[in-house]
Amino acid sequence: MVISYTQGAGKYKNWIIAENQFSIYNQGKFETIFSLGNGYMGLRAATEESYPGEKRGCYIAGLFDRFDGEVTELPNIPDFIQFDILLAGEEFNLMEGKVISYNRRLNLKEGILIRDVEWESPGGRRTKLTFKRFVSMADRHIVCQKVIIKPVNYSGPVNITTGFNGQVTNSGTQHLIEGNKRITPNGDIYLTTRTQESDVILVLAAGYRFLLKENGSENEINLKHRIRTGRRKILLSFDFPLEEGDEFSVEKTVSIYSGIDIEFNKWEREEVIVPTALDNLGRAQRKGFDLLFEEHKDKWARLWKEMGIELTGPDFDQLAVRFALYHFLQMTPTHDSRISIAAKGLSGEGYKGHVFWDTEIFILPFFIYTFPDIARNLLLYRYHTLAGARQKAKENGYRGAMYAWESARTGEETTPKYGHIDPVTGKPIRIWCGDIEQHISADIAYAIWYYFQVTDDCNFMYNYGAEIFLEIARFWASRVEYNQMRDSYEINDVIGPDEYSEHVDNNAYTNYLVKWQLQKAVELADWLKERNKECWERLCQELEIVEEELENWEIIAEKMYTPLDKESGLIEQFEGFMNQKEIDLSPYRGKIGSILDDMSWEEVTSSQVLKQADVVILLYLLGDWFTRDIKKANWDYYEPKTLHDSSLSPAIHAIIAADLGDIETAYTYFQQSCKIDLGEDMKSCDDGLHAASLGGIWQAVVMGFAGVRLTKGKLRINPCLPRGWQKITLKINWRGKKYLLKIEENRVKLKDFNTGEVLMEERKVVLP
Ligand code: BGC
Repeated sequence: MVISYTQGAGKYKNWIIAENQFSIYNQGKFETIFSLGNGYMGLRAATEESYPGEKRGCYIAGLFDRFDGEVTELPNIPDFIQFDILLAGEEFNLMEGKVISYNRRLNLKEGILIRDVEWESPGGRRTKLTFKRFVSMADRHIVCQKVIIKPVNYSGPVNITTGFNGQVTNSGTQHLIEGNKRITPNGDIYLTTRTQESDVILVLAAGYRFLLKENGSENEINLKHRIRTGRRKILLSFDFPLEEGDEFSVEKTVSIYSGIDIEFNKWEREEVIVPTALDNLGRAQRKGFDLLFEEHKDKWARLWKEMGIELTGPDFDQLAVRFALYHFLQMTPTHDSRISIAAKGLSGEGYKGHVFWDTEIFILPFFIYTFPDIARNLLLYRYHTLAGARQKAKENGYRGAMYAWESARTGEETTPKYGHIDPVTGKPIRIWCGDIEQHISADIAYAIWYYFQVTDDCNFMYNYGAEIFLEIARFWASRVEYNQMRDSYEINDVIGPDEYSEHVDNNAYTNYLVKWQLQKAVELADWLKERNKECWERLCQELEIVEEELENWEIIAEKMYTPLDKESGLIEQFEGFMNQKEIDLSPYRGKIGSILDDMSWEEVTSSQVLKQADVVILLYLLGDWFTRDIKKANWDYYEPKTLHDSSLSPAIHAIIAADLGDIETAYTYFQQSCKIDLGEDMKSCDDGLHAASLGGIWQAVVMGFAGVRLTKGKLRINPCLPRGWQKITLKINWRGKKYLLKIEENRVKLKDFNTGEVLMEERKVVLP
């Protein structure tokens, strides 16, 4: 087995994911799942030595650039991880010689990646090497690396070359221009560069420390360096004569800053940023690897205390939940509300670092219940990008705020217009999502309301939330079309969540959510009038809202076309869906995207086949609106037609299956979600993690099995654990209080998180 999940005993039990065997074919998988980060930056886990097919990558949250004719993306910043190592003249390279032992592991508890290798060179020299690295949670600008080298059966010189290499690209696209590269009097190096189009300065500084352990005692040593430079590149090379049995270590500390950092403005000069990076590097170096690691570890320990979920059940389930939580924290830019979470986090170039509905619908609930302040920050991103959404509405002939399907720095639409070539027609596939996948605006409104319900954060609503919410309502009011024949309001020519159907009329998910949102917008206006007249008057003035507009929203909400067949309870996904051709999906199940190898895009989009949950996610989000019978009828209809070709799908199915009492199916879907990134499929996540699916894992556990649900303004906890789970403990915030929830044999024990006092012990709990 290439991946081992149960590694780690004692305090590390179910905290370690390990790779037991190196293969260049699996590099993408491990570079992604072992990625490290702190929300400021994300570092793929490329190995120190370089191999064909690798994807070295490090990305700074929010630092976007646009190459001519392409959409904006997160540039791959200069590589600092690479170490070229010569052992008595032979290059350390696992493709040659013999690997005697190999183990690389990510410790989720402490956020550190460690690799132990024993390698025999083609010349028969054996060496033990250990590589360690972490991206500091305690100081977001700092990354630390340590390489330990121990010759087993020889003495000879070791040579190490490492520094900064700005010759990296984003799959061929070069975003960085030549800047300065220098070495300081104390031997630190730095490299500056700028992004091509957005013109943002980036500074990387590094310092080195060398240690020698001989006869049991370890001492710092000074080594002379040779400088090697090239285009956007500065490297230092060091030599040291090693004796058999000695242990030689190099510590490399890297400090990274950019012009978009919250403490600077974009135009900050190099003369300011370089000293800042060098000062911080100096401070970090004085502490050294071990102390920096202690600080980093402490920060992780505090985070785990706040967010940890303990599960007594199969080891893999516990590990998968921790894997999701670990990655949430390393991918979320908690330091800057102008940035949100990308669909792949900061772990790869898939979807170019863009933000989708994945954040609001899939990931945000975790933050709302666990770290409400971070959830607020994530919603503020939508406030900062309101101008982009207003602009998009205007350009399309609408009013209010129409949010981008894919969003980056400014909120303008960043979805590419074309995708890959259709193998059947030979034409590039036109991507329509940026034009017509419009439910994102309703999703954002939904997330704002949800946040407000759970946190009671009135100030957020007064200052930011209400404005976004009302502007989205206004967009929908200008977007709907009146159908005189039916005396209803409709939304034509859209893409719903299921992207295997395009240009559809009256997508049920979209229409229902719009109805819901317009109702809530009127409710919100009434609430503001009563609770904060001043705020309401300000908003009316700034947004030029008049009473008739609210009345109009009320009418549209009432007459919104929301399909539901009274007899069967079925909700037609969009008009005409049920008349489309049905096809045998069995050859394509479990093989993501394989249907497109056999069928043309036109065939797929005109059949009854779903890429992902559509009506089923509606049943979840507006759960209060539908009876159990309606949920069951729609589940029975849509579930067999869904391929789960989007990673967003299985977890939602897990939750609805749990709602329907089918815990076995729910568990199967939960496992499917867990395996999207963490499973044995070595090609599942080369381009980066599936952030929304990780959010889905958390939701399947908390909303699905633990049965936590916001319903009719209250929090209901009605658990139903899978057969193999004996106990689960989690933490939730609800209206300003933090609770510890223990669920055992489907009974809930609710404790005050701070005092430990038991507040309730029941089969089912409802919190007002
Ligand atoms: C899914 C979308 C999702 C996007 C980013 C697509 O494949 O269909 O729902 O937002 O991926 O994760």
